[in-house]
Amino acid sequence: MNRICLCLTGQTLAENARSVEKHSCDVDLVELRADFLAEHELGALDRFPAMIPVPAILTVRREADGGGYVGPESRRIDLLSKAVSGGYDFLDIEEDLQVSAMEQSLRDRGGRIIRSIHSFSGMVPEIEKRIRGLKRHPTDLPKAAIQMGRTRDLVTLVGLYERLRDLEKILVGMGVASYPLRILAGRLGSYLTFSSLPDRQQAAEGHADPVTLSEIYRYHNIDAETRIFAVIGNPIMHSFSPRIHNRGYSLLGLNAVYLPFQVDEITDFLTLAEMLGIEGASVTIPLKEVVIPHLAAKTDSIAATGACNTIVRQSEGWQGENTDVEGFLTPLKQALEHDRERRPLPQGCKATVIGAGGAARSIVYALRNAGYTVLVLNRTLQRAKDLAEAFGCKASELDRGASESIADHNDLIVQTTSVGMHPDLTGDPLPHYRFRGNEVVYDIVYNPPVTRFLERARKAGCRIIYGKEMLISQAEHQFKLFTGQDYPDPREIDLDF
Ligand code: ATR
Repeated sequence: MNRICLCLTGQTLAENARSVEKHSCDVDLVELRADFLAEHELGALDRFPAMIPVPAILTVRREADGGGYVGPESRRIDLLSKAVSGGYDFLDIEEDLQVSAMEQSLRDRGGRIIRSIHSFSGMVPEIEKRIRGLKRHPTDLPKAAIQMGRTRDLVTLVGLYERLRDLEKILVGMGVASYPLRILAGRLGSYLTFSSLPDRQQAAEGHADPVTLSEIYRYHNIDAETRIFAVIGNPIMHSFSPRIHNRGYSLLGLNAVYLPFQVDEITDFLTLAEMLGIEGASVTIPLKEVVIPHLAAKTDSIAATGACNTIVRQSEGWQGENTDVEGFLTPLKQALEHDRERRPLPQGCKATVIGAGGAARSIVYALRNAGYTVLVLNRTLQRAKDLAEAFGCKASELDRGASESIADHNDLIVQTTSVGMHPDLTGDPLPHYRFRGNEVVYDIVYNPPVTRFLERARKAGCRIIYGKEMLISQAEHQFKLFTGQDYPDPREIDLDF
């Protein structure tokens, strides 16, 4: 059974009870973190279980274990002891605490002891033995929370899960890197996974909120048969890909989950992928190049662009793809087809690509393959020249004179730089360019949905293509590669920022 536990860090019991009420559909049990309560509430701890409709864990976490309790240990034990009569299902106490009478009193009432270890310095020696040692009574539930920093730590944690398969326990990683394993916690063999309300992440960094866990990742449905896919990069938590892919699985009723992994070392991720049986991954910055030497097979687009944004597990190893190429072209083709009757693009279209980074490289390759003549405009002229030379294009500097340079290459203008991207909302890469109104203008920035540049083009009457369309299109291509099925209702995807 997969259980979501909501950590309650409100200052009053009433506030915590309201949070439980609001999320009672998504959570299976709650942990009252009494160390976050206001002093005047502590005398009433025993009343809390009766205020909520789900089982409760009581924890008074010490500062040394990552909590907020700083008073004397005798008082902490006294608080726990007095609360036992309230009907808590679990009391969380630490490995070093010896409180046999209180433990027995809880057991007599049908409750269980969670005996816990918190390690903020990563894996500790003999961790397996220590976790097994936490079970001092048949009903005890051992718990270990271990800080994860690097991808390698996840490999170690998954190994520990495997060795502790036979033991009923709570085992979780802490920190942002551990996020995907928290979503797999039930499948890996943890009694529960912790979650926090979005505005209350003090309990632990890397907690998902209960709605995200339950509605986006469908935590309760993850089982041994669930197919696992990933998006890897660094940073990664801002990525919209989990929302897009998991939505597709949900609509099609596929038993699959798509998880974000913050990866610092690609080889460690590939080891982890082996251990978890990950079948495919979207690859993003800064891993698109470093993944290439690990591919068993790759498409021509990878060789040409030097970038791989998708890997799919095959029997002979990882197959690499670059769906940015098709993901860029598909919305362009659709926009042109849609509009063909009214305003056809001239034969032998001439395009300008603004920017000369990784994204521009895939786009220039796509445009050249589609028969466009391309001018590359970039702030750093040498990068523009290097890119232009690789694909037989012209190059020019992105400066005040750029408007003249592009006068002969403006059937299509593609914006690939980060100018205009959140939080640079007023940024415009070509502030002096006056749109004629018959250009097709494509900005690959999707946050904000309409950049300043695109807004100017729209006002001038240009046909515009939003960054969201490329984002979704490349994801649709990945979805098909991962699952073999077409993505459902892509136009309905709501990217609210
Ligand atoms: P990506 O893979 O997203 O394309 P990248 O490889 O870092 O990212 O490339 C970023 C692009 O945005 C480059 O073309 C960069 O110009 P430089 O080559 O001169 O660095 C461009 N860029 C970033 N910030 C810019 C700015 N403030 N003005 C103009 N161009 C900018």
